[in-house]
Amino acid sequence: MHHLTLTPQDNAALTPVLTDLAKEHGTIEDPGLIRRAPVLTRLLPSHLVEFLETYRLGEPSAVCLISGLDVDEAQLGPTPSHWRGSQHDSPALRQEIFFLLCASVLGDVFGWATQQDGRIMHDVLPIKGHEHYELGSNSLQHLSWHTEDAFHPCRGDYVALMCLKNPDLVATTVCDAGDLDWSALDVEALFEPEFTQMPDNSHRPENASESTGDPTVDRLRQRSFALIQSWNDDPVKRPVLFGDRQQPYMALDPYHMKTDGWSQRSTRAFQGLCEQIEARMKDVSLRPGDVVFVDNFRAVHGRKSFRARYDGSDRWLKRLNVTRNLRGSRAWRPAPDNRVIY
Ligand SMILES: [Fe+2]
Repeated sequence: MHHLTLTPQDNAALTPVLTDLAKEHGTIEDPGLIRRAPVLTRLLPSHLVEFLETYRLGEPSAVCLISGLDVDEAQLGPTPSHWRGSQHDSPALRQEIFFLLCASVLGDVFGWATQQDGRIMHDVLPIKGHEHYELGSNSLQHLSWHTEDAFHPCRGDYVALMCLKNPDLVATTVCDAGDLDWSALDVEALFEPEFTQMPDNSHRPENASESTGDPTVDRLRQRSFALIQSWNDDPVKRPVLFGDRQQPYMALDPYHMKTDGWSQRSTRAFQGLCEQIEARMKDVSLRPGDVVFVDNFRAVHGRKSFRARYDGSDRWLKRLNVTRNLRGSRAWRPAPDNRVIY
C-alpha cells in the first residue's frame, strides 16, 4: 500500500486554509469550489502532492492511503439516516474540501446523473431497508467486490473514500492486480470482448429522487435511466482485461454479470480470475480522518457485512469518483465544464 500519515504540522497548516474555504463556499457541491479545486491543490503540503503524483504516474500500488487528517467526531453530530440533503450545512465541510483537493491532484472529480441525484461527493452510510440489498448502503449483506461502474465506458480511474466514522472498524476489501499470478491465468481469453456486464443497482431509478427540481436535468436524467435500462435488457459484451498484457487493467463486477452464452474458454478464464481475486482480497479498515484512493483499473473493492445501529453513530464515509480523462465522457455531458455524466 502507498501510505502517508499527515503530521501535526500538516494539520496545523491545513486547518486555517480549509476553514477559510469552507466559509467562502458553504457546500462541497458549490460548482465554483469544484471548478477551482485543481488550482487550490497548490494549498496542500507539497510532500502530499508529490506523494499523490507518485501514485498516479508510477502505479506503485493500487491502494493509496492518507491518514491522520484531524476529525472531531463530537463536532460531526449524528450520522445522517440518508444521503439526501447531507451536502447542506455539512459539519464535515473542511474535511470534504481536503478530500476534494487530494482527488483533484489525481484527476477530475465527476458525478453520475443516475447516482445520488447527480451529486459529485457521495455519502456512504447504512440506510434502513437496504440491509440485504446489493448496494453500498447495505449492511447485513456484504458488498460484493467489483470495479466501480464496471458496466460504463466512462467509469472512473479512481474511486475514493474518506472516513468520518467507523466505530466497528468495518473493513473495506480490496484486491490489487499486482498481487495476482497472471501466468496462471488465461490472460488472452480475458482480453476478448466476450463478457456480459450489466449496470449495477446504484444506477437504478428507484434509488434516485423523483425529481431534481430542474426540468432540463430531469429530462436528461430520464434519457440516462433509459440507456441504462437498455443495457440491462440487451447487455453489452466487453473484455474483462485491457491495457498491458503483463500488468493488465481490469473491469469486472461478477454480481452484475450474466454468464449464459459464454464459451467454455471464457467461462473457465473468468472463474480462474475470480478465484484468485477471492483468495487475495485484503481488508482495509478505515479510521476517521483516513482518505483512501483505490485505482479502479488496478483493483476491485467491496465491503464486509456489519450490523447497522441507526442511532446516529453509524459508519459514515464520503466518496468521490475521479477520472484522468474528463474529455473521454464529453458525449455524455451537456457542456465541457459540466462534470455530471447523463
Ligand atoms: Fe464500489
